[in-house]
Amino acid sequence: MTIADLADQPRAIRRQAAVLLVEGFDRPKGWPDLHAAARELDHVLASGFAFAALEHDLLLGWIGGLPQYDGRVWELHPLVVRPDRRLRGIGRGLVTAFEGEAGRRGARTLTLGTDDDSGQTSLTGVDLYSDIPRHIAELRDLGDRHPFLFYRRLGYVVTGVMPDANGPGRPDIYMSRAVRREE
Ligand SMILES: CC(C)(COP(=O)(O)OP(=O)(O)OC[C@H]1O[C@@H](n2cnc3c(N)ncnc32)[C@H](O)[C@@H]1OP(=O)(O)O)[C@@H](O)C(=O)NCCC(=O)NCCS
Repeated sequence: MTIADLADQPRAIRRQAAVLLVEGFDRPKGWPDLHAAARELDHVLASGFAFAALEHDLLLGWIGGLPQYDGRVWELHPLVVRPDRRLRGIGRGLVTAFEGEAGRRGARTLTLGTDDDSGQTSLTGVDLYSDIPRHIAELRDLGDRHPFLFYRRLGYVVTGVMPDANGPGRPDIYMSRAVRREE
């Protein structure tokens, strides 16, 4: 596997990247159609950067980075790995590439939102406003291995929630980490 700049890849690879946004997400939900996915890819490439994990002319996964707060913060968005190639370190490799590039571009903070749009975590269906810190402290997966577990394994910490972001009782979960710097 190699990791390369997605912007430099031929049209056929970029098309696979759009297809993966439609087909590679199940829960949380992905992009509804190829048109919306291609627009998302164009937006990421125009506003930030993206890396592809490649095996010859097959796209195994990809990750994007988008600047926020004048580039002091970079958002990891999106990330997807082919369903038949998961749990082999590809997601971790892509996140490492994202972190390196964001750091080179001046990031201090790396951030992301991971939706719970289908009842996969303890944050679903509860009144988050009643005690947001407690709900975050008690966050747990309900058995379906929501991606917050993956990000937590990679050092990301839950820094907040957006209640009802995906409809009543279906929040977005915000996670961040500091950029590692060799000082
Ligand atoms: C989330 C996703 C990118 C992970 O990619 P991956 O290539 O399978 O992940 P890796 O193999 O690099 O996993 C790194 C570590 O996280 C763990 N991990 C991966 N997915 C996990 C999950 N859903 N739950 C718990 N742990 C997980 C792995 O076991 C591995 O652990 P290790 O440190 O013991 O080796 C992939 O499952 C995916 O594309 N999902 C669909 C799209 C999606 O949900 N994207 C994120 C939305 S915000």
